[in-house]
Amino acid sequence: MSESPAPLTIHDLGQRKAKGERIVTLTCYDALFARLLDECGVDVLLVGDSVNQVLAGAETTLSATLEQMIYHTRSVRRGSSRALVICDMPFLSYQVSREDAIRHCGRVLAETGCHGVKLEGGRAMADTVRALVDVGIPVMGHLGLTPQSVHALGGYRVQGRDEATADRLLADAQALEAAGAFAVVLELIPAPLASRITKAVGIPTIGIGAGPACDGQVLVLHDMLGLNDRFDAKFIKRYAALAQDVRDAVKLFGAEVREGRYPGPEHSFPT
Ligand code: KIV
Repeated sequence: MSESPAPLTIHDLGQRKAKGERIVTLTCYDALFARLLDECGVDVLLVGDSVNQVLAGAETTLSATLEQMIYHTRSVRRGSSRALVICDMPFLSYQVSREDAIRHCGRVLAETGCHGVKLEGGRAMADTVRALVDVGIPVMGHLGLTPQSVHALGGYRVQGRDEATADRLLADAQALEAAGAFAVVLELIPAPLASRITKAVGIPTIGIGAGPACDGQVLVLHDMLGLNDRFDAKFIKRYAALAQDVRDAVKLFGAEVREGRYPGPEHSFPT
């Protein structure tokens, strides 16, 4: 009987960086995909608040709720056994006060069984990160294009193209590391800046639209599977074209039902 691989911990991710081994991360919102991704050796399943856009059809992540994130994170945790499961904390669940952040992140850990939380922001969030880490809640940071600040940033655009912003992002990453974050997502920043940050910090960087130098990469699962084919961006690589497969399958089912070809005798019970 083959032994199932040992569950990953946040410490394994740090060791991966030290050994130069890349960290494979995908977003995941449900138990079925969690099982498939876990079987394929994906290291981190990120229950992104992008679920609010991808599955719930909202314009932005801003209206994602704590209950929604708990529901999806619990489902992902049920479907996975080896991967590290990280819950994205929704807008206003951690920014208002440190007490709120501890209460909400603690609830997520206790009620979902996930291994850590992700929050957006750098130096402004460092004290909150420290407070969470001090009570035993592992935190992943998120810098660059932080979608919960989409209106303040003026849209979904590359961050850190000018020297001052690039320096600020580097300082933010260093502040998150000093506060005890175990990893940091770098979203939509120039590749040379991601490389500079990756070299400057001891914690793993997980890039999305941040070039090849990061310690790991993350994509939104439905984008890379070609399920969400209405959304495209330069950094997305489609590894499948599942939206078209779904259309083809559903049209065939419709035709067979209309023409009386489904169900056939092999799908029916004679007695
Ligand atoms: O919400 C999300 O899916 C994310 C990743 C894309 C990093 O934050």
